[in-house]
Amino acid sequence: MKKILINGANGKMSQAIIRLMKEQPELDLEPAVLRSKGQTITEPFDAVIDFSTPQGAQEAFALAKHHKKPFLTGTTNLPDLFLFQMQENTKFPVFYSPNVSLSVYFFSQLLNRASQMYKGYEMALHEIHHVHKKDAPSGTAKRLADVMGLPQEQITYERTGEVVGTHQAAFTGEMDKIVLTHQATNRDLFAQSALHITAWLIKQPGGFYAMKDYANFILKENKK
Ligand SMILES: NC(=O)c1ccc[n+]([C@@H]2O[C@H](COP(=O)([O-])OP(=O)(O)OC[C@H]3O[C@@H](n4cnc5c(N)ncnc54)[C@H](OP(=O)(O)O)[C@@H]3O)[C@@H](O)[C@H]2O)c1
Repeated sequence: MKKILINGANGKMSQAIIRLMKEQPELDLEPAVLRSKGQTITEPFDAVIDFSTPQGAQEAFALAKHHKKPFLTGTTNLPDLFLFQMQENTKFPVFYSPNVSLSVYFFSQLLNRASQMYKGYEMALHEIHHVHKKDAPSGTAKRLADVMGLPQEQITYERTGEVVGTHQAAFTGEMDKIVLTHQATNRDLFAQSALHITAWLIKQPGGFYAMKDYANFILKENKK
């Protein structure tokens, strides 16, 4: 079993990750070291998963760097200088994505292709999230708009009930309309994906990895 340091261990994402890790021993990952704010770590670990805050992510990265251990972070709003630091690294495997869902990544690829195929169609992007979400439009919607070539100001959104996250793109022509929707039905979507990416990352050589690297690996595996 690989001993995983979970940074921000009391948070919602970390708690889901810890639960799913215990439910899936076949992944060979064990939540062995649980770190919270300000805690010094002395126990050994094989890799770090971080879902905390920008400050927490940088502390966890320093730990991973010191021990040259694989590091995955999904923490959002990271400072540019820190992103640059992670991208420059070649000594140990580092993964970062503000959206770790493989399914959302594939959806972004579909929208990118659709925007190239339905040239001349009017594009629209609408997102729906639960009422507790602080930012609007969502970071995912901004990313999807970018890959579609849609100005971010044109994203529409609503906040209602406990909706986990829905992103809907429409391409409207003069005689037809294409609607593509990604609907997250379970918050574990991200935690589960983070675990699979970690199991893959641990086996990679030093360097910086993003969703497209993991997606390429999965697509190759699917062809086997
Ligand atoms: N990439 C993705 O797909 C994805 C998906 C979901 C969420 N996220 C991101 O992941 C992050 C965490 O989300 P969440 O929903 O789990 O938030 P959360 O429930 O607020 O959890 C954050 C945790 O980090 C802890 N923390 C704060 N400062 C720390 C530090 N310096 N060192 C270690 N731990 C620290 C907090 O502890 P205290 O409570 O004691 O302050 C809290 O338990 C956010 O940035 C969120 O946007 C990304």
